[in-house]
Amino acid sequence: DRRKKIAIVGGGNWGSAIACVVGKTVKKQSDVFQPIISMYCRDSRKPGDTTPSIADTINSTHENSKYLPGRLIPSNVIATTSLLDACTSAHILILVVPHQGIPQICSELNGKLQPGAHAVSLTKGISSSPDGSKMKMRLISEDIEQALGVECSVLMGANLAGEVADGKFCEATIGCKSLKHGEELKMVFDTPNFRIRVTTDFEAVELCGALKNIVACAAGFADGLGWAYNVKSAIIRLGLLETKKFVEHFYPASGTEGHAYFESCGVADLITTCYGGRNRKVAEAFIKSDKPLQHVEKELLNGQSAQGPPTAQDVFEMLEMHEIMARFPIFESVHKIFVGEHCEQNLYDAVRNHPEYD
Ligand code: 13P
Repeated sequence: DRRKKIAIVGGGNWGSAIACVVGKTVKKQSDVFQPIISMYCRDSRKPGDTTPSIADTINSTHENSKYLPGRLIPSNVIATTSLLDACTSAHILILVVPHQGIPQICSELNGKLQPGAHAVSLTKGISSSPDGSKMKMRLISEDIEQALGVECSVLMGANLAGEVADGKFCEATIGCKSLKHGEELKMVFDTPNFRIRVTTDFEAVELCGALKNIVACAAGFADGLGWAYNVKSAIIRLGLLETKKFVEHFYPASGTEGHAYFESCGVADLITTCYGGRNRKVAEAFIKSDKPLQHVEKELLNGQSAQGPPTAQDVFEMLEMHEIMARFPIFESVHKIFVGEHCEQNLYDAVRNHPEYD
């Protein structure tokens, strides 16, 4: 079979929604892609739990009733709890697991993919690697490349999972190193209702996806505190500028044209996440209650996690290490609110006294 095998790693909310898209696109291109998509879903059951695994449920009902209830996953998507069964000999690996799961997955998959395989990451966050006394900024896609020895593109965009699974119109951005892989990935994802644009500005694309989760938390705080629409708009605009500054600082060669910020991964993802995302929701509930963050997540997300708080922490540490905190007051304040070091007034001041006005 010369057709390419596609594997999805991740059975959460976004992994299941993307399975809805890719399950359909491969059926229409069965001369290029193998029609069966394998999907790895971690078995999160505790010992002694006799309820079916998420993978079993998907295979018998075509629904991920835990993380994406009410949506049908196409029947050519076959779920498994075995990472190796899902991915061995895959040509195209779609990684869509929380950041925390990446190292383990990559170490298990090292050497198991097809020669010439490539990956695309839908994971949002930042990484780091030791560099003398400092930690060097690293993209998650770079971690994946290093651990798997394959090229890794990214897909980011204004994509609330439920809407994508429902086939409602949206767009997304693929950031790639080689256009050959970018164009092939466009064939994997592009549908009349999921329009893809490809750019080689991959660092800006990936960082827009990661950092918007921090801005969405600031937007959620603003909602929870009952702040006016104009304030929330300012937070979104200033958050985008902090994102651009972050990219320019750590990847000066990326984003110079500024196109990524006007793609779906930029301004559009920021808007959708600041209005309809889980990060916004969790942040709003967190600031309105005195419950710990884990508590709030548990109540609101049914076992899913919001990536904004851990990304805010990682970004905070990176800014501190590189002594550039003063230019990123919103990123700083979001982290400090989550750890109890900032209050409402500090965030308000971070916005009002933003260095953009100097
Ligand atoms: P959250 O639901 O995790 O906040 O993110 C939404 C999103 O990424 C939309 O593109």
